[in-house]
Amino acid sequence: MPAAPVPAPAAPREVPGDWNGLRAAVAGCEACKLCRTRTHTVFGVGDEQAPLMIVGEGPGADEDARGEPFVGRAGQLLDEMLKSIGRSRQQHDAASAVFIANVVKCRPPGNRDPEADEVEACRPYLDRQIELVRPKLIVALGRVAAQRLLDTDAPLSRLRGPLYHYGAARTPLLITYHPAYLLRSPREKAKSWDDLKKIHQFLTQPAPISS
Ligand code: URA
Ligand code: SF4
Repeated sequence: MPAAPVPAPAAPREVPGDWNGLRAAVAGCEACKLCRTRTHTVFGVGDEQAPLMIVGEGPGADEDARGEPFVGRAGQLLDEMLKSIGRSRQQHDAASAVFIANVVKCRPPGNRDPEADEVEACRPYLDRQIELVRPKLIVALGRVAAQRLLDTDAPLSRLRGPLYHYGAARTPLLITYHPAYLLRSPREKAKSWDDLKKIHQFLTQPAPISS
């Protein structure tokens, strides 16, 4: 019997190259099983040219209900963390703007972790958002976002610290704690504050910091 042909790797899914097209594509997306249980897609929010892009894990119940990322308790803490470095999702000047998104745009049922195939199905949207925003720095929040962006199984404690570079454009990327984790482990807030200072320093100094 001849060996079964090896299937060609799936071509990366093409997604629209402009904000309006991208928003519409996400709103109607059925590329993974999370589309069956979501109420709203959660595209992302903030300034479309922000120097800082925050990438979380995925919508929770509050975000699914409202269609906006980080609006529950973890979101309130994220807003406080951003405020501590002079930034907010409502601002549109380079010194204080931020764009906030997630590695998956639809809520994983019961707040389970998004699965690898779901993150991969959704990645073209995130990659396009990064391409359009062209942030100076991406900050991934928590283990799941960090592991998926860096394609690793390493624990968060190992991933925090160095400066990475994401994607073809090699956008600088730092990893820090997820605000939901900080709500459960307030002891880690001091280390989170160290990370926020480093983020602020990176964004306000012209020369790149070493990793
Ligand atoms: N947690 C996330 O990772 N993202 C959200 O949008 C809300 C909570
Ligand atoms: Fe599409 Fe992403 Fe939602 Fe999956 S999570 S259905 S890939 S928008």
